[in-house]
Amino acid sequence: MPVPLQERIPYFPEHVETPRLILRPATPEDCQELNAALHETWPDLQTWMDWADRLPSVAETALFLQRAAAAYHAGRDCMLVACHRSTRELVLCTGLHPRDRRVPKFEIGYWCRARYQRQGYVTEAVQAVTRAGFEHAGARRIEIRCDSRNVRSRRVAEQAGYHLEAILRHDRRAPDGSLRDTLLFVLLSEEFFARPPK
Ligand SMILES: CC(C)(COP(=O)(O)OP(=O)(O)OC[C@H]1O[C@@H](n2cnc3c(N)ncnc32)[C@H](O)[C@@H]1OP(=O)(O)O)[C@@H](O)C(=O)NCCC(=O)NCCS
Repeated sequence: MPVPLQERIPYFPEHVETPRLILRPATPEDCQELNAALHETWPDLQTWMDWADRLPSVAETALFLQRAAAAYHAGRDCMLVACHRSTRELVLCTGLHPRDRRVPKFEIGYWCRARYQRQGYVTEAVQAVTRAGFEHAGARRIEIRCDSRNVRSRRVAEQAGYHLEAILRHDRRAPDGSLRDTLLFVLLSEEFFARPPK
């Protein structure tokens, strides 16, 4: 009998290709490059990501990646890196994070290495993660959340076909301590399959 989509472990494929990127689960071998990308992108990350309170050491990045790989293989979470198909350089990090298995519902997060920003890589990756989420993981709903002031992140969600469902006012604290309104972007499986992106 085929395994129901939402029970697949791991629930994300080991390898997904887009025109310019290879997406795959993060592994401990990504340590040096991920750490370099974090350093390079730190001003952006510090502004928008609540986990970016302190630059991690190489050892801390290694431990983080070990845990991420274990979570992927156990089907608990999925942190992904996207590498350039020609240079093999790490371009961005993204992930498909389970939020409620009974729906099933997931959330996509992302950040892009500074030197690769504003070239459409993030939108390309988010479209591919979205497709795998619906087609492979059996998602019925995928969310993208961002600070209402994060115009570039908002554009990625819109370009990837997500709909603004709600504005959660004073939802969280931004890294600078200010109260942040969160934009909640959503795509349902019905909407995706009615008009899958090319
Ligand atoms: C938010 C973030 C991921 C957006 O990255 P990005 O590089 O702007 O997004 P994309 O890769 O999709 O690139 C889109 C831009 O590239 C341009 N572009 C250039 N070549 C392109 C191509 N071949 N195809 C598509 N777009 C292209 C688009 O016009 C667009 O520019 P615009 O924003 O001026 O309209 C990035 O700013 C970032 O990492 N920020 C810090 C972390 C963060 O905020 N994460 C999100 C938290 S919710």
